[in-house]
This record gives sequence, structure tokens and C-alpha cells, in this order.
Amino acid sequence: MVDITARQRLKLLAGAAALMTSACGGASRSAPVTPDATTPPPPPPPPPPTSDFTLTDGLLRDTFRNNFSMGTAVTAEQINSNDLSARLAREQFNVVTPEYELKADQISPSEGVFNFGPADRVVDWALDNNMTVRGHALLWHEATPDYFYQGTPSQIRARLENYITTVMRHFAGRITVWDVVNEVTSVDIFNGDNGIGPDRRSRWFEATGGADYIDWAFLAARAADPSAQLFLSDYETENTFKMNWTMEIVRRLLQRGIPIDGVGHQFHLQLDTEASTALAAIDTVTNEFAGLVNHVTELDVNFYQNSGECWQSGTGCQPDIGPTPPPESLAAQARLLRDLFNGLVNRSTVESVNVWGVRDNDSWLNFAPVTRTNYPLLLNRAGEAKPALRAIIDQNYQI
Ligand code: G3I
Repeated sequence: MVDITARQRLKLLAGAAALMTSACGGASRSAPVTPDATTPPPPPPPPPPTSDFTLTDGLLRDTFRNNFSMGTAVTAEQINSNDLSARLAREQFNVVTPEYELKADQISPSEGVFNFGPADRVVDWALDNNMTVRGHALLWHEATPDYFYQGTPSQIRARLENYITTVMRHFAGRITVWDVVNEVTSVDIFNGDNGIGPDRRSRWFEATGGADYIDWAFLAARAADPSAQLFLSDYETENTFKMNWTMEIVRRLLQRGIPIDGVGHQFHLQLDTEASTALAAIDTVTNEFAGLVNHVTELDVNFYQNSGECWQSGTGCQPDIGPTPPPESLAAQARLLRDLFNGLVNRSTVESVNVWGVRDNDSWLNFAPVTRTNYPLLLNRAGEAKPALRAIIDQNYQI
């Protein structure tokens, strides 16, 4: 026990009183102390917290765990470098889609060659981190090497069946969901009722003499891995013409007894998209095909309005926004995604919602149709939650 003098005790008590006053935020019940010339000025107040929000581990996926899985796209490069996006993917999502490693131009760039390395890297990393994998995509005209189209329709069919069987058997038990066909719906939506639908006139359509290749793909997929969920996925299903054509294709498949389990809506949206149009696409599937599942597969919100000319020739495009996203655009993105997610959680046929990338810098929209700084995702380039992420997990967050 250390003896202290009365003076020391008074000093200790004075210090304790001062400490108590500051701990209450400067509020004190005693009379305010008038500082004299010898009293040092009080320290400046601490800066206001930059945010009363912390992106804790698992917050995003756990928010929706009772409604649907939350996924994102990742690449083998991100995982190999264990960059911030890979770490955030592991912390915040429970599903991943290899962004391009599972496509035919990567898996089998030439006939008889199968290169599973990069895709295996992503798949095994996901499984090691208790995540599931969306396989994307067994057939996509934009990622189909030329040799697939050579020969008669029956030769093309045999090659496609062999490819799908080889790939799905390689990943059987590790990939449980596949986009079997991607973007097979007509894009003639701009001609409205005069548009040629429902099938996209791709090289698959031309080389095989019609759209039966879609049936072939689903039949081969079901035979290769009967336990996998099989999807048809496309973009702009939020467009009524395109959704109606997509429904024609799905209806035809079901009428023919072709195995399909769900529709994937990419939902590459714009800042002025109405969430109701996207939710209507979900309802259109559910209202007619009660047994089918809906996935949102590539969600993002473009900060640019791209004219046809910009998409076609890269000219007439809006100028680069630059390094600072407009606050009004961030707010519009947050409002749109809050409305969308509030609708998705009320739709039991929605089993998975996937954004197309982790951080804004990861997005394909920084390079398509031209190279510009874009802000389409939930996390900014520093890996911090944007207003859109806060808006979908907290209804009290003021946008
Ligand atoms: O990372 C490699 C790099 O190492 C290599 O040097 C370089 C040159 O070969 O290629 C790089 O890979 C590129 C990859 O993007 C990087 O992420 C591929 O070439 C390139 O083809 C790939 O583009 C992907 C594109 O699909 C084509 O597969 C985009 O990332 C991906 O976002 C995009 O996603 C599509 C969906 O599958 C379908 N819906 C539309 C969506 C956007 O186009």
C-alpha cells in the first residue's frame, strides 16, 4: 500500500474529475470551469467518425442467408494473388462464378484439348472456403472456338455432347449449378413485334440449321451429371420483348420434355432501370413455370448510358466520369438496388443472387464498350461498402 500526501490525493482526485468530465463527452453537472491564462486549451474534438458502419465478416451473405445465396464473379488471377477482391469474396459471399475460366475458349481452345487448370484453381478455392460454384457457361456463342461449328449438324451435336460430358464429369460433385446455355434469345428486341424471335441467329443457330442445339446441350448436361441444376441464362430479361422470347424458348423446351431447372437473369442494369421491370421478369417465370428456379447471375449497375453506336463502334460514348463517382449516381444505384433486393427477398423462387465482380475496379464495364472508369458494383476500389451495399442490408440507412 503506498502512502500518499493529502496534496497528492487532491491532485489524483482533480485528475479523476477531469477524466470523468471528458468521458461524458464534456458534459458535467458541476459549474463550468472558466479557463485561466495558465490552463492549456482543451484538445480539439475527435474528428467525426467517417462512418458508423463496419463491413464485418459475413455481413452481406448473412443478411440474405434465409432468402438466397449471395455470389460474385472471381478470376484465377485474383485468387492466385489473394488480392483484396479474393479476400472480400471469401468474407462476404457464399457462391462464386469463375468469370471466364469455365468457358469453352478457355477450357478447350482446340479440339480434343481440355485445360481445366485455371477453373480447377477457382473451384477448389471456393470449396476450401465453404462456397458453392456456379458453372458458367457450357455453351455461349461469344466463347465458342471455331472448330465447334465444323461439319454436319450431327457431327456438331456429337462434338457438343462430348464437350459437355467431359467438362461436367470433370467437375461433378464440385460444381452443382450450370448455365448450360447463355444468351440464346434473339436480340432483335429493337424491332418490337417485327423482331425476329425467339432464337438468337448465332453461329450455333446457323451451323446447326436452327435452335435444336439448345435441346442437345440440356440433354447432354442432364445425362452427364443428373444431380446438377441446369439453367438457361440471358441478359435484358427485364426487357418485355426479350423476356417474352425467352419464355417461348423455355416453354418449347419444357413441352419437348427437355430437362431445365431454372432461368438465370444476368441483370446488367442501368441507373435509370426500374427495379419493377427486373422483378417482373422473375414473376413471369414463376407465374407460368411453378417448378422453375430463378437466379440473378451477373448483377451490376452501369454508370453510363451506352448508345447503340457506342456499343457497335465505340464512338459517341459518354466521356469518362473520372476518379470521383457522382454522389447522385451512387444514390440512384443505392435506390435501385434497395428496391430490387426488397423485391427479391419476397420471391421464394429466387435461390441465388450474384453480382458480377467484387470491387468496382474488377468490373468488365471498365472496359466495355470502351475503357472508362465505372462504378457498377457494391464495393468501391478500396474495398469499402458503397451506399448501394448499405442500402440493401439496412433499411434505415439514409440514401
Ligand atoms: O486475365 C487474362 C490475362 O492473364 C491474359 O493476359 C489476357 C489476354 O489473353 O486475358 C485475360 O483474361 C481475360 C479475362 O476477361 C480477364 O478477366 C479474357 O481474355 C477475356 O476474354 C475475359 O473477358 C470476360 C468475357 O466475359 C469473355 O469471357 C470478362 O472478364 C467477363 O466479365 C465477361 O462476362 C460476360 C458473361 O460471361 C456473360 N454475360 C456478359 C458478361 C460481360 O461480357
